[in-house]
Amino acid sequence: MSPATPMTSPSRLEKTLFRLQSQQACLAWAFREIVDRPGPVIELGLGLGRTFDHLHRHLPDREIYVFDRVNGAYADCQPDPAFLFLGEIEQTLPALHDRLEGRVVLANSDLGSFDRDSNRRVAEMSSRLLPPIMAPGGIVMSDLPLSLAGFDEVPLPPGALEGRYYLYRRAG
Ligand SMILES: C[S@@+](CC[C@H](N)C(=O)[O-])C[C@H]1O[C@@H](n2cnc3c(N)ncnc32)[C@H](O)[C@@H]1O
Repeated sequence: MSPATPMTSPSRLEKTLFRLQSQQACLAWAFREIVDRPGPVIELGLGLGRTFDHLHRHLPDREIYVFDRVNGAYADCQPDPAFLFLGEIEQTLPALHDRLEGRVVLANSDLGSFDRDSNRRVAEMSSRLLPPIMAPGGIVMSDLPLSLAGFDEVPLPPGALEGRYYLYRRAG
């Protein structure tokens, strides 16, 4: 067995914990921010469906558009099939441009992994594809830092840890 790694950086367990804790705090903040703002919500990265389940419970009357390559969600975290778009986001999201342009009030981009190259690609993709569909004042949350033209970075709410989740708001 190799010697234990010195505790100079967070373990994978801690990184996952910090990301999820920060995501939950950002979501709680975002739910309050959009309460009087009608419009759809987007989840990029269904995964196991944990975030979708949280979104659906807190926003039961919203249209929640969900994207992933595959549907790997738990049986009790399944999106409405009419709002689930499977395939590469590079293709599936632009295909909805006419339906979503300028309307989305909250987008959660949760596409990161422990693969740096993949993270660079998905961060670039979200940075490019999200701005045209966001409403003025719309909020983008992300597990990776994004570069969103026309958006301001928003300070994290209490409970979210710096560098573990990112918040942006479209100007206007
Ligand atoms: C971190 S997981 C999402 C976790 C999820 N929010 C949850 O609560 O379980 C990231 C997901 O993004 C998906 N993904 C990453 N890049 C993608 C792409 N370019 N197109 C479609 N799906 C992608 C992966 O298939 C994976 O399921």
